[in-house]
Amino acid sequence: MCHDDLFRPSEYTAALLRQLWTRPPCTGRVLELGTGSGVVLTALAQAGAREVVGVDIEDDAVQRTRALLQASGALSASVLRGDLWDPVGAQAFDLIVFNPPQLPVLDDVPQLLRLRSWSNGGPQGREVLDRFLEGLPQRLTPKGQALITHSSFLDADCTRSHLERCGLQAQVCQTITVLMPPSKLKVLPPGWVEHHEGRGLRRLGPYLFSDFDVLEIRHAAAG
Ligand SMILES: C[S@@+](CC[C@H](N)C(=O)[O-])C[C@H]1O[C@@H](n2cnc3c(N)ncnc32)[C@H](O)[C@@H]1O
Repeated sequence: MCHDDLFRPSEYTAALLRQLWTRPPCTGRVLELGTGSGVVLTALAQAGAREVVGVDIEDDAVQRTRALLQASGALSASVLRGDLWDPVGAQAFDLIVFNPPQLPVLDDVPQLLRLRSWSNGGPQGREVLDRFLEGLPQRLTPKGQALITHSSFLDADCTRSHLERCGLQAQVCQTITVLMPPSKLKVLPPGWVEHHEGRGLRRLGPYLFSDFDVLEIRHAAAG
C-alpha cells in the first residue's frame, strides 16, 4: 500500500480545516490530538499561534507530521508520541482540536487500508472520545475552546450528558454528510450497520451515508 494512502486526510479533516481557516486565528497555546497526516497541526502553526503542540499514538504519524511541518516552514511546532493526554500532562491550551477515531473496528480485518488506530474507537466507537472528554476540562483554559468531529452514529445524548457531567457545553458549528466507503464498512462488527440504519446512517440502494458535526466545546461557566 502507498504510504500516502495511510495518512490521506479525510472529509472530517477538511471540515476542521475549514473551521480554522474561517475563524479568527488563535494566537495563544494550541494542541491537536491525533495529528495523523499533520495538515491540521500545520494549519494551526501557520495561523500564528504562540505555541503549537501535536500528539499522536503512532510513530509513523508523528514522523509524517514532523515532515509536513518542516516542509511548510512551521518549525516551532512540536509533535509528541503518546496516548491522548499523557504527553501534555496537566498543561492547559486555548484551542484544542481533535478528529477522534470513532468506529468499532474489528480486531482481525485483513487488508485494512489505514492503521487500525486511525478509526478504532473501541466497542461502541466512543472509547477515545470519552477519555478525551474526561480530560478536557482540566486542559482547557477558562475561555478556551475545543473543536472536534462527532459522527451521527455516536450516541449524541451520551455525549451531551458526558459534557454536562464535565462542566462543558457544545454547539454545532458545521454538519456534513459523507458516504461511508466500502473500505470502512468492511471493518465493522456484524450487525453494526443494521443497528444504526435510521439512527445516524441513511441508505440509498447500496450506498450508506452518515452525517458528522463539528462541535465547538467550552467550559459551561464561560457562557
Ligand atoms: C481519524 S484520524 C485523524 C488524523 C488527522 N487529524 C488527519 O486528519 O490527518 C485519528 C488520529 O488519531 C490517532 N490516535 C488514535 N488513538 C489515539 C490515542 N489514544 N492517542 C493519540 N492519538 C491517537 C491516530 O493515530 C490518527 O492519526
